Amino acid sequence: MIPVVKTIDEIRSAVKTAKKQGKTVGLVPTMGFLHEGHKSLIVRAVSENDFVVVSDFVNPTQFGPNEDFESYPRDIEKDRLMCEEAGADIIFNPEPSEMYDNALTTVSVDKITKTLCGASRPIHFAGVATVVSKLFNIVAPDRAYFGEKDAQQLLVIKKMVKDLNFDIDIIGCPIIREDDGLAKSSRNTYLNPDERKAALCLSRALNIGKAMIDSGETSAKAVKDAIISEIEKEPLARIDYVEIADLDTLESTDKTEGILCAIAVYIGKTRLIDNFIIGEGTK
Ligand code: PAF
Repeated sequence: MIPVVKTIDEIRSAVKTAKKQGKTVGLVPTMGFLHEGHKSLIVRAVSENDFVVVSDFVNPTQFGPNEDFESYPRDIEKDRLMCEEAGADIIFNPEPSEMYDNALTTVSVDKITKTLCGASRPIHFAGVATVVSKLFNIVAPDRAYFGEKDAQQLLVIKKMVKDLNFDIDIIGCPIIREDDGLAKSSRNTYLNPDERKAALCLSRALNIGKAMIDSGETSAKAVKDAIISEIEKEPLARIDYVEIADLDTLESTDKTEGILCAIAVYIGKTRLIDNFIIGEGTK
């Protein structure tokens, strides 16, 4: 059975042994309750590294006061099976006290954390940047793997790695969806059967927007309006934001190339996100 270690000393010593044997190290940071999306990250990490660490830590500092830290789903035994199936070598599953021992230091990335999810979750990205920096310093991987569903998170981490000179390759991996189009997320488990059906409005609306751009629409406003109107047809949905943002600045733009089209929608009490990207950023 794949080992689960709880302390920084234990994971450091396992990584040290692997590195002494000349192995390359991949890290897949997660908050656990693993699904096929996480599994795809682990499988990719296993294919590109000799030793793969999965961190499984519900990070308290990235949740706001009225968010779901306490109720966030946890199941380390199920996670263990999935990590083993995917071929990972070890799981790092610390307690918050192990990670934050009277810590006074945080890492924050400016500007690109203020828009999109950052506008409604003001402390979220500082929590993410801080915990990911700590994991990078603890594990010192060659490569780290993140899902493109959290597109803003991925851009924030890439910027942090560049700005702070972490010698780590950041690998973004495609969104994994259910057969009916819903992006896989640990939070999907909060949805009751009616909400689960209603949640399809996210991918449906994004498909409409993407198809408009693919067939030549050049006004981001027109695309955004079409996405909003599709979501508004769903009575259980409440829009947090629908945004078309420049891929470099993450600020709202009216172009339709080099963009992130990102949405956050409450279905009942559950906040879901999804996105598509057109083109590339310049940085
Ligand atoms: O994407 C997540 O699950 C989390 O934000 C991460 C990157 C593991 C940091 O806690």
